[in-house]
Amino acid sequence: MPEKSFPEALNEQIANEFAASQQYVGAAVHYDTETLPRLAGFFYRQAVEERDHAMMMVQYLLDVDEEVRIPDIESKQSRFDDSVSPVTMALEQEKRVGEEIYALCELARGTKDYRAEQFMQWFVKEQVEEVALMQDLLNVVERSRDNLLLVEDYLARENPGDENDPTAPPAAGGTL
Ligand SMILES: [Fe+2]
Ligand SMILES: [Fe+2]
Repeated sequence: MPEKSFPEALNEQIANEFAASQQYVGAAVHYDTETLPRLAGFFYRQAVEERDHAMMMVQYLLDVDEEVRIPDIESKQSRFDDSVSPVTMALEQEKRVGEEIYALCELARGTKDYRAEQFMQWFVKEQVEEVALMQDLLNVVERSRDNLLLVEDYLARENPGDENDPTAPPAAGGTL
C-alpha cells in the first residue's frame, strides 16, 4: 500500500507548482532590476505557466470531487550573484519538477487510478519541453555572459516557449 493517496500527492504538487511560479517571478525581478526586459518577460511568462499548471491540478481535483488545499509558499530568491544563476536555478527546478511528475505517474499507476494516470501524461510531455527550453536558454546565456544583450536579441528573435498548446488540460478559472 502506498502511504499517500494520489489526491494528497497532487495537492502537494499544487504547492510545488505555485512555488515554481513564485521562484520565476523572483528571477524576472532580478532581470528587470538589471534592465534586461526580454529575460524578465521570459520569466514573468514562465511564472504564469507554472501558475496554470497548479490551476490545471486544481481543476482536476474539482472534476474528480476531491478536496483542494491552497498551500502557503515560502519566500523566494529575487537576488542572484550574477545573471547566469537564475537560469541555472530554473534548469534545476525543471529537472526536479520532472522527478516529481514521474513520482505522481508511478503513484497513479501503482494505485490503478487510470483517470489520474491519463491526467499526468500531459505533464510528462510538458516537462520534456521545459527542461529542453531551459537547457537552450542556459547555453545561450553562458555563451553570452559578457554581453547579455545578445540573449535579449535571441529572445526577441526566437520567442522560445511561447507556443499555445491546445492539448493542455483545462485550468480552473480558465487560462489567463
Ligand atoms: Fe510546472
Ligand atoms: Fe515548468
